[in-house]
Amino acid sequence: MRISLFLCLVLFVFSCSKTPKSSSIVKNEEKVKALISKMSLEEKLGQLNLRGTSSRVKGELPEELKQAVREGKIGAFLNVMNKDYVKELQRIATEESPNKIPLIFSRDVIHGFKTIFPIPIGLAASWDPETARQSARISAIESSSYGVRWTFAPMLDIARDSRWGRVAESPGEDPYLASELAKAYITGYQGDSLNNPTSIAACAKHFLAYGAAIGGRDYNTANMSESLLRNIYLPPFEAAINSGAQTVMTSFNEINGVPASGNKFILNTILRDELNFNGFVVSDWDSIKEMIFHGYAQDLKHAGELAINASLDMEMTSRSYELYLKDLIEEGRVSLDQINFLVSNILRVKYKLGLFDNPFVPENHDGNLYAKSHLEKAKNAAINSSVLLKNEKILPLNKSNTIAVIGPMSNQPHEQLGTWAFDGDKAHTVTPLKAFEDAGIKINFAKGLDYSRDKSSQGFYNAVKAANASDVVVLFAGEEAILSGEAHSRATINLPGAQEELIKILSETGKPIVLVIMAGRPITITNIIDEVDAVLMAWHPGTMGGPALHDMLFGDAEPGGRLPITWPKISGQLPLYYNHKTTGRPPSKEKYVQMDSIKIGAWQSSLGNQSHYLDVGYTPHFPFGYGLGYTTFEYSNLKISNTVLESNQLVKVSVDIENTGERKGKALVQLYIQDVVGSITRPVKELKAFKSLSLKKGETQNVSFEISTEDLKFVNNDMKSVIEPGEFNVFVGPNSAEGLETSFEYK
Ligand code: BGC
Repeated sequence: MRISLFLCLVLFVFSCSKTPKSSSIVKNEEKVKALISKMSLEEKLGQLNLRGTSSRVKGELPEELKQAVREGKIGAFLNVMNKDYVKELQRIATEESPNKIPLIFSRDVIHGFKTIFPIPIGLAASWDPETARQSARISAIESSSYGVRWTFAPMLDIARDSRWGRVAESPGEDPYLASELAKAYITGYQGDSLNNPTSIAACAKHFLAYGAAIGGRDYNTANMSESLLRNIYLPPFEAAINSGAQTVMTSFNEINGVPASGNKFILNTILRDELNFNGFVVSDWDSIKEMIFHGYAQDLKHAGELAINASLDMEMTSRSYELYLKDLIEEGRVSLDQINFLVSNILRVKYKLGLFDNPFVPENHDGNLYAKSHLEKAKNAAINSSVLLKNEKILPLNKSNTIAVIGPMSNQPHEQLGTWAFDGDKAHTVTPLKAFEDAGIKINFAKGLDYSRDKSSQGFYNAVKAANASDVVVLFAGEEAILSGEAHSRATINLPGAQEELIKILSETGKPIVLVIMAGRPITITNIIDEVDAVLMAWHPGTMGGPALHDMLFGDAEPGGRLPITWPKISGQLPLYYNHKTTGRPPSKEKYVQMDSIKIGAWQSSLGNQSHYLDVGYTPHFPFGYGLGYTTFEYSNLKISNTVLESNQLVKVSVDIENTGERKGKALVQLYIQDVVGSITRPVKELKAFKSLSLKKGETQNVSFEISTEDLKFVNNDMKSVIEPGEFNVFVGPNSAEGLETSFEYK
């Protein structure tokens, strides 16, 4: 029975996707035009309206909503998570509304729907687009079975400050890595063909520079040069749009004085004119209305006017369009042509999704929620995402050892799912404690602390007892899910509560300690790193975090992650990122002045000092790209094919990687370049390529990369994309701070 249903679905999918692409695009455009010509103004305005409902609403579907749909006053919904509601609202729209235009249902499906994958910063740590793609594909398969055909993901905001709570949702600090992930996410969500009922439209968010919030305080101001905006913050969005992202969400912040939701420059000039985006733009939650609080709009009507003229197609939750657009048109402040343009953008996406022909979830589409294959991929994603930061020959552990399982994150089914995991059911979560028990590991369990912010030392006694009775302590520490994510910025990003104290007390037992961190951001561990023998960063690893951690800790798998974001020693160093500028006084080991070395009563002088902190220096705790495995690698024999690169040519760079350790392992080889002199100063390093290889013990492999002139491009102060002649340094290594170096000249 199940097999034949599956076959029906496959046949249905096939019949949806067999129309050749170009002819279907033409047909869609004709259909959009024809439909627009039949629609009343009210109905057009309805298409611009995204109505929110609470996913927790129970009982009868409110009559007010049904009536609004019947009258064509709503074009889309978010958060309707009751399948019957979805069906009924869609039925009303497609049978009773004036032109029977289908609704589109949306949801924040961010790192999984039911099967929860690691949080996005974790997926970014995999440096593996395929892992990201699979997470998005499975999210789409599962969520589309609830009628969701549009997700508010991926978030592509470059994040250089880990105090910002939304670091958890970000692709990290690097535009190249983020762009590679962007492509993968779009392909995963949208599938091979948008009109497949398991495809959901993606939403590249938040446009633009949301991650540049001052001090990491959410919603805060982004002030930056246009070249910085274009060189660092824009590329992942460009990659997403080139990969076919159907929608874009505006950000909450202002950019150089103009809130994103009313920003003609970013929405009209950059997005539509330069990037040729022809999907639709949605505001963020109330972000149109919030232009009043920004001090940019006088009132809600003015806010609507600013947004609509910036070509913001669909308004999420606030109601400026619904209440005032008609008046604005009558007053000549908004043109009908503009309305038609925006409505067309929305209808186009609805046609592409096949909603006009198949508005309902196919009967046989159950989403395979929590299918074994989904869980297996979620487990692999957690393995690929985990970053081993320290290992003093303790990992992998011996399965015959007795393990003290301690810590507030050791058995927290909800917390390990992380932020934005609304639909994941914690009953399906496998915690580390459960996974260790299932695997038959000998365990002494004592939480030590009840939750990550717990300040009570009451549980310490039992924790120490458990440690003393065991061979090794595995301590699961970190942050609860609610301590990162939207509006959850922190000024200090250490282990909250009494976790540091717990670690210190446990270290007095003399037992080896493996610290596993589950958190939504890098956590400063300077105070306790010397007390532990190993540190494994698992981020919030999702539903299958436990089995993944079991396999990594006991050596059935190797942690595969590398840092997608620089890890600071203390939060006072933030913002901190590897691709910074060199400055006129670059810091160095030789010139570093440590605070305690300054004489008492010293004469005030800046001479000799460089761009560094007197107390913590100038280096991070762990650099971007860093991560250990269970073996070691040696890089040698760096070769460059030519030392001069001319237009439209390539430079080939190759290197030998030898596995010098005791077991097979994965090397993630990273290539960076530095444009030594530019018409505007250039970063000290920029990631341009990476490759992952698996090497057996003792094996050597040669890896090669090609650098093309495309890789040398940047946007100058005239906003032109240029390649400037001159010297380029090339670095190939295991992270952004180590590696071999060569150079070439571009003529
Ligand atoms: C967030 C968006 C999200 C939206 C809808 C907002 O608060 O900033 O990222 O998609 O809510 O839930």
